[in-house]
Amino acid sequence: MTIQFLGKTLKNHMVLASGVLGNSKEILERVHENGCGLVTMKSIGPAPRDGHKNPTVIDLGQGMINAVGLPSPGYLNMENEWQDLDKRDFPVIASVYGGSVKEYQMVAEFVSAKKPDFIEINISCPNSEKHGMIFGINRQSSQEVVSAVKKVINVPLIVKLTPQAQDIGDIAKACENAGADAICAINTVGPGMVIDIESAMPVLAFKKGGLSGPMIKPIAVRCVFDIYKAVNIPIIGLGGITTGEDAIEIIMAGASLVGIGSAVRYRGIDVFQKVTDEMNAWLSNRNLSIEDIKGAAHKE
Ligand code: DHB
Repeated sequence: MTIQFLGKTLKNHMVLASGVLGNSKEILERVHENGCGLVTMKSIGPAPRDGHKNPTVIDLGQGMINAVGLPSPGYLNMENEWQDLDKRDFPVIASVYGGSVKEYQMVAEFVSAKKPDFIEINISCPNSEKHGMIFGINRQSSQEVVSAVKKVINVPLIVKLTPQAQDIGDIAKACENAGADAICAINTVGPGMVIDIESAMPVLAFKKGGLSGPMIKPIAVRCVFDIYKAVNIPIIGLGGITTGEDAIEIIMAGASLVGIGSAVRYRGIDVFQKVTDEMNAWLSNRNLSIEDIKGAAHKE
């Protein structure tokens, strides 16, 4: 059985979160073969950027902390990636970021011509002072980026939001009004910091980083709940989703699709198939469908 999402056919409800397994067609294809209906590329930026120094990712057990630093070859230096992806037979979200409204627009316009199935704008990365989250914590700047990008692309636009917004429902509404076709939430939480007390050193070279994995799931569920209340466009729900029961929970909050990132580390690359199977078993045991439970937590 397949499903429809913004006019595209997907094999199931699973989405690979951005930044988790890179930009190469081979890896994205492997993720698709392992049960993922829709894969997201690592965010593409306006200029070549190395990212932060190592260590950039530390596993804390209950989740991870990372400050990768938005490394990107820059949108003009990805011809090989685009040529490979042109021959794909699976749907792709291209994620883009910038350091100004103009940069978001420039990158998105170029990327749109490469025909990804969807474009996601990352206005929510906590690991750079100039890029990402700075645009997504404010209603006005979120709206400006979304309407500027919407004007120059011809694929559906997904906006990735940060839980740091004071009122994420309000930001989502502003994005919807500005032309967003879907919301993706949440990006990592924070920044946070973890200190190794023997060396008295922050564990990340960049010192601060975004939190992901099981420890952030309650925040993700609350954010999706708030967004669902505020908008009529579909939501890709993610943040700590690791099991089929987690997926059910975020769908009950209002998600149409379910994203997975950190759980690739905890359960392997076939986590997408595992979560799908667990979700389907839970539903069929109760004679329910996804449509029956979507937004179910909103009943009074
Ligand atoms: C990075 C980007 C993100 O959007 C995020 O949530 C975490 C890390 C990065 O490349 O640093």
